[in-house]
Amino acid sequence: MQLEGKRVVVIGAGSGIGRSVAVAASEAGASVVLAGRKRESLEATAALMKGRREVRVLDASEETQVAAFFEEVGSFDHLVSTASQGASGPLTGMGADAIQRAFAAKLWAPVFLVKHAAPRIAQDGSFTFFSGFRAGRPAVGTSITSLVNGGLEAFTKAMAVELAPVRLNAISPGVVDSGSFWDRLGTEARERLFTDYAKKVPARRVGRPEDLASATLFAMTNPFLTGTVISVDGGGLLM
Ligand SMILES: NC(=O)c1ccc[n+]([C@@H]2O[C@H](COP(=O)([O-])OP(=O)(O)OC[C@H]3O[C@@H](n4cnc5c(N)ncnc54)[C@H](OP(=O)(O)O)[C@@H]3O)[C@@H](O)[C@H]2O)c1
Repeated sequence: MQLEGKRVVVIGAGSGIGRSVAVAASEAGASVVLAGRKRESLEATAALMKGRREVRVLDASEETQVAAFFEEVGSFDHLVSTASQGASGPLTGMGADAIQRAFAAKLWAPVFLVKHAAPRIAQDGSFTFFSGFRAGRPAVGTSITSLVNGGLEAFTKAMAVELAPVRLNAISPGVVDSGSFWDRLGTEARERLFTDYAKKVPARRVGRPEDLASATLFAMTNPFLTGTVISVDGGGLLM
């Protein structure tokens, strides 16, 4: 199965891994729908692409927006969502707002996306969601990240059973230098994290968005791959 002539929806296409996935899908011949909450960053991704593309502003954690989005998009072949809102730190010091935002992006958004996309996605199509290695390797301060990523992986597997033959998979990145994702740490702490991760993991480096884009194209195009979690973490689960 190839992406030539297919229609691919990428939620989170305005930055990081989502941007890299959108560009890679376009280079593979797909027509790409670029979605996220900020038009400007989606337009910046669209400017990197030569093939057919559409920019659509969407907050995937709002059900009415998601329903209207798929009404307008119509039928398509593959959906990828990288939507994420970070919530890290000890649970006792975390505000309910930060927790809600993390739930909204990683739990509510996938639920609404699958619910409203299911009637329009091709039967040989796929959903690919992004979890993260903290689902399987928690550390102090990752409770909410671990919870939403683990929940998303369980939901992906359950829906692979319920929506078959449409395929659903999750990709679990390790630490990836994807641009803004780690900015919340500040430059110094981010560099320390990257150096430390690169020292410890078998791959001896942090990930690049292209590493994840390549795994995503594999997940979209392999017809025998469903209900699974692909770890693309440089061996982060072995640290
Ligand atoms: N980078 C890493 O080291 C790493 C590690 C483990 C797991 N991951 C996971 O991998 C995925 C991609 O990471 P990344 O580094 O590319 O992060 P990123 O650059 O922060 O990308 C997340 C994207 O999601 C979009 N988004 C957030 N909430 C949304 C919503 N409600 N509706 C629509 N779009 C929404 C954001 O755009 P707008 O704000 O414009 O909407 C942004 O483009 C994420 O799920 C992340 O948790 C990343």
